[in-house]
Amino acid sequence: MDIIFYHPSAEPDRWTTGLQRRLPDARIRIWTPGDNRHADYALIRQPPTEMLAGRTALKGVFSLAAGVDDILEQLRRYPAMLAPDVPLFRLEDTGMARQMQEYALYHVLGWYRRFGDYQQQKDRALWHPLPDTPREDFTVGILGAGVLGRSVADCLTAWGFPVRCWSRTPKQLPAITSFHGEAQLSEFLAGTQVLINLLPNTPQTIGIINRQMMCQLKRGAYILNIARGAHLREDDLLAAIAAGEVKAAALDVFIEEPLNANHPFWQHPAIAITPHNAAVTLPDDAMDYIANAIRLREVGEMPTGRVDLTRGY
Ligand code: NAP
Ligand code: GLV
Repeated sequence: MDIIFYHPSAEPDRWTTGLQRRLPDARIRIWTPGDNRHADYALIRQPPTEMLAGRTALKGVFSLAAGVDDILEQLRRYPAMLAPDVPLFRLEDTGMARQMQEYALYHVLGWYRRFGDYQQQKDRALWHPLPDTPREDFTVGILGAGVLGRSVADCLTAWGFPVRCWSRTPKQLPAITSFHGEAQLSEFLAGTQVLINLLPNTPQTIGIINRQMMCQLKRGAYILNIARGAHLREDDLLAAIAAGEVKAAALDVFIEEPLNANHPFWQHPAIAITPHNAAVTLPDDAMDYIANAIRLREVGEMPTGRVDLTRGY
């Protein structure tokens, strides 16, 4: 079996060695422009379209990320990039769920315990206990109830926060209040104190976190965007903070990445920033999943993680 690999920035040797150890009979090569030789599987991150185009013999293409919006955007522009019926798979969890839990828990606890306010008081040498919000009123609303959204929901529920999720289709999740579809969005937003975004970037979700959404949250809400920059209307966030609708935000993803040095978010005291690493791909976990998925494909089975190209995630 032949496997081709392309990643613009990862250490390719780590991947080829790790895959070889897991799939001893495979022939694994780093794809370079002009390589049209046979391949059964492709592992990709931001691939040039020519890597996959015309490869009708592929039994699977594996994205080395959880979100596949960049690949689907390429596909919209060059539909011939992926031959029909070639399944595209994405990383489901593979160690990202725990990282998302850490990220979300850190910020939710910090906002709940008002550590940002105490830091400001410390800067003024002010000894002054602040009133706290009862935990049962500190409701966390998660946009998305998929692999990562559910995992973050379970973690925050275990810490005793009331948690609600919003998804496209109905869900029944223990200890979590579920909402779905456009019709239940306003009900989901009303009463939400912390809004966490874990939606995929699709034509339906672009710009979804806008002023109209922000002003339906509890006044002085918090926003955590750990999905994609395209989801958030950045000017609306600045306006909502200025109007007191939103108290603070923690952002890992931005419309333009890296975030421009002149962007107002950098200097904003109410906005925390990380460089799109809320949850990174862990090579060993990802390779375990991919090697197992390839073994399943080789015996004619369909592994989990297949992307629905029409749905867009
Ligand atoms: P997933 O399992 O596919 O879950 C997506 C969830 O979003 C599902 O619950 C889905 O609803 C819901 N959804 C999709 N379209 C919707 C719509 N129009 N209205 C309402 N709900 C909608 O994805 P995941 O693995 O949890 O990952 C989520 C996203 O996190 C990825 O797409 C990626 O962009 C982002 N991510 C970011 C980082 C980072 O470091 N910042 C790392 C990894 C992933 P249904 O359940 O009804 O289908
Ligand atoms: C990272 O953003 C991913 O989608 O895996």
